[in-house]
Amino acid sequence: MRILGIETSCDETSAAVVEETGDAAKPWAIRSNVIASQVQIHREWGGVVPELASRQHIRDICGVVERALEEAKTTWRDLGAVAVTQGPGLVGSLLIGVSFAKAAAAAAGLPLVAVHHLAGHIESLVLQNGELPLPSVVLVVSGGHTSLYLVERPGSYHLLSRTRDDAAGEAYDKVAKLLGLPYPGGPVIDRLAKTGNDRAVALPTTRLTHADRNAPQLKGDLDFSFSGLKTAVLRHVRTHEGPLSHTEVADVAASFQRIVVASLIEKLFDAARRHGAASVGVSGGVSANSRLRAELQERGNRREIPTFLPSLQLSTDNAAMIAAAGLRRYRAGVTASLDLNADAALPL
Ligand code: KG4
Ligand code: ZN
Repeated sequence: MRILGIETSCDETSAAVVEETGDAAKPWAIRSNVIASQVQIHREWGGVVPELASRQHIRDICGVVERALEEAKTTWRDLGAVAVTQGPGLVGSLLIGVSFAKAAAAAAGLPLVAVHHLAGHIESLVLQNGELPLPSVVLVVSGGHTSLYLVERPGSYHLLSRTRDDAAGEAYDKVAKLLGLPYPGGPVIDRLAKTGNDRAVALPTTRLTHADRNAPQLKGDLDFSFSGLKTAVLRHVRTHEGPLSHTEVADVAASFQRIVVASLIEKLFDAARRHGAASVGVSGGVSANSRLRAELQERGNRREIPTFLPSLQLSTDNAAMIAAAGLRRYRAGVTASLDLNADAALPL
């Protein structure tokens, strides 16, 4: 069976065709994955402007879907279902994908499958690598989320911890902005950090020991926090005499990145040990980070636990991961009705 996936939760309009392989170990294959990025539009404003994002999704959605079908050599008649990101994300952006998917499913007489954006990020690991050795601890780290999930059975996602304040990607974007670097900050800081000294600037690490009052069901000691780090960078820039030189900016970038990556890796492996994980994975936009990828692999080798990452294209938002998560859900017998609504704060 082939499924059409649609993703419009933030500033990428994406459509993909993914098909089942019949191989239980590597269940899905990508036939197409078309991504229209709005980065150029939002860069001028230093971040995503929701109203501009939804208007651009409307302009792009038809062409992106047509191209995804064309590249996959697939017609509407060859499809078995339509999967779409229901949430979380920007509600105006989500609504474009959800409305399009409902209309397409109704017109083509196909079942509709609603997908949680983070389930998509988690399944990007399976799409890339095949089924993970379970139980697996997966870190989803993006512009909107920094969360650890325990996957005990395929398609089950149990939240272990999350960020108390900023997401890691959000911290990258904010730190880039205060260093005068363009949006999105993640790739820019990643590139600059390679030339900087990662011990040049003393920045604080965060250690949370108390439970989160807002999430009493979680223990809290595996939680993340990045706002203190961001404030420390701000203080460093403000108290610096005059503007930072290019080298000094690279040093801040490298020092900031060292601490973010260390905190992500440390919590991930701590959770893996506590839950007796047979593998660990990292997905979401920040999993494109070169230092995070290198340290994950190195630490995995040392700990002798298999580590998994998506390809760079499957790290940031894309519809192939939504299609994959959609296939998982469809095979579990879950479909959505045509009164499906977008949900900006959809829980997983
Ligand atoms: O998953 P994603 O495409 O969208 C969300 O669901 O948020 O993640 C986007 C985030 C942005 O904050 C961006 O700065 C960050 O991922 N990012 C990176 C890198 N590439 C993208 N962060 C660090 N290093 C990178 N190489
Ligand atoms: Zn995402």
